[in-house]
Amino acid sequence: MPRLHVNVDHVATVRQARRAAFPDPVEWALVAERAGAHGITCHLRKDRRHVQDDDVRRLRERVTTVLNLETSLDAEMVGIALESGADCICIVPENRQEVTTEGGLDVVAERPRLADVLPRFAARGAVASLFVDPEPAALEATAELGAPFVELHTGSYANARGADRERELGRLVAAAERCAELGLRVNAGHGLDLENVAPVALLPGVEELNIGHSIVARALTVGAEAAVREMLAAIAEAAR
Ligand code: PXP
Repeated sequence: MPRLHVNVDHVATVRQARRAAFPDPVEWALVAERAGAHGITCHLRKDRRHVQDDDVRRLRERVTTVLNLETSLDAEMVGIALESGADCICIVPENRQEVTTEGGLDVVAERPRLADVLPRFAARGAVASLFVDPEPAALEATAELGAPFVELHTGSYANARGADRERELGRLVAAAERCAELGLRVNAGHGLDLENVAPVALLPGVEELNIGHSIVARALTVGAEAAVREMLAAIAEAAR
C-alpha cells in the first residue's frame, strides 16, 4: 500500500485569505500525522500565496513523520529548500499565473539547472523527486540525471472522464512500468480524491501519494482526522 503524504498548502490558503493567524497549517499537519498520514508536504511558492517561510521552519521543527518540500528551480527557492532540513524535496515547475501546478517539469530543457541542484540536495541528505508528466522522455532524462524518484503528475488523469480517463490511466501505468525498467522509484499526485485514488494507488511500484486539496476540502465537512483516515482507508481498500 502506498504511503499517504498530506499536502497542507490549502490550510494556509484559508489563513492567507484573511492574512490572519489561523487556521495554522502546522497544527493541522500534526492532526494529519495523528490520523495516520505518513508524511507532510508543502509548497513554498515564489509569490507566498499559501505556505510562508515561517511555516516551513515550524513544520521542520514539529513534523515527526517525513517532511516533503516542493520547490521550483528558482534560485531563491532552491536556497531555501537547501536550508530547510526537509527530508524530501520535490522539484516542480512554477508559473506565477497558474492556479495550481499545471504540468510536469520539462526535464530535458531543465537538465543544466537540475544537474546543478540535484547533487546539492543529495549532499544535504534530502531525497529528491522530479514532478513529471507520464512521458517517456521525461522519465529517461530523470534517470540520466540520477534523481532517485519521480512524482508522476496525475492531474490529467484526475481531470479526464470516461474513455479519456482510461487512456490517461494507461499512460500512468506505462510510465510506472518504464520507471521500473529505468530504476526510478515512483510517487504520484495531483487532483486525487476519494473517487479517483484507487487506480493510482495500484500503479506498479508506486510508493507514495501526495494529496492536498481534496483532503483539506473534505476536512471542512468531516474534520481533519476523519478526512485523512478516509483517504487512508480508500488507499488500503484499493490495495486489498
Ligand atoms: N504533487 C505536487 C507536485 C503538487 O504540486 C501538488 C499540488 O500542490 C500535489 C501533489 C497535490 O495536489 P492536490 O492538492 O490536487 O491534491
